[in-house]
Amino acid sequence: MLHLFILAFLVASAFAQRCQIAAPAEWSTVAPGSNITVEVDRPMTLSSSQEVAVVIGFWACNGPCNETDVTQIMGNVVYSGPYSPQLVDAGFKPPYQNFTVTVPSHFVPGREVSLNVAHFTLIGAGLEPFLETLNITLNIGSA
Ligand SMILES: *[C@@H]1O[C@H](CO)[C@@H](O)[C@H](O)[C@H]1NC(C)=O
Ligand SMILES: *[C@@H]1O[C@H](CO)[C@@H](O)[C@H](O)[C@H]1NC(C)=O
Ligand SMILES: *[C@@H]1O[C@H](CO)[C@@H](O)[C@H](O)[C@H]1NC(C)=O
Ligand SMILES: *[C@@H]1O[C@H](CO)[C@@H](O)[C@H](O)[C@H]1NC(C)=O
Repeated sequence: MLHLFILAFLVASAFAQRCQIAAPAEWSTVAPGSNITVEVDRPMTLSSSQEVAVVIGFWACNGPCNETDVTQIMGNVVYSGPYSPQLVDAGFKPPYQNFTVTVPSHFVPGREVSLNVAHFTLIGAGLEPFLETLNITLNIGSA
């Protein structure tokens, strides 16, 4: 019983830590070769964490993206570096950081693409290493 409780707590706290891809919106259409803003929001509950890095990648899916497990893939890496979210609109938005990235120019219009984010942080007093992956599906429009 106690184990179950601890497990539930661990799962709950792991989910509470999850960042979010706040922009672009899922199913947005993006043009090959264009620059887009990727907004990565960090939940307030992570305030005791020490941020390390994010990696942002695009994976061109072979058919509908929901048929691929994209959590093990980054694809074309368009950003790999520090993550330092800032609290800009206190009360309206959690801390976030915008990244301007370029959609790979060889992507074929009409295809689905998965926008993948890997986020690495150190949590709590013990600075526990924590890695999560996030993803949304976008459509490729014409260039
Ligand atoms: C995208 O951004 C890069 C680097 O900031 C810039 O060199 C390039 O001209 C931009 N491309 C477009 C289509 O705006
Ligand atoms: C997967 O996505 C396609 C559209 O791209 C949709 O038609 C299909 O119902 C989805 N399948 C599942 C299992 O969600
Ligand atoms: C970050 O990007 C979002 C979405 O495009 C935008 O609403 C917001 O104003 C941007 N923030 C800054 C500080 O540029
Ligand atoms: C993305 O992540 C969600 C979980 O948030 C998952 O349900 C979905 O199938 C994933 N794949 C794509 C391509 O969006």
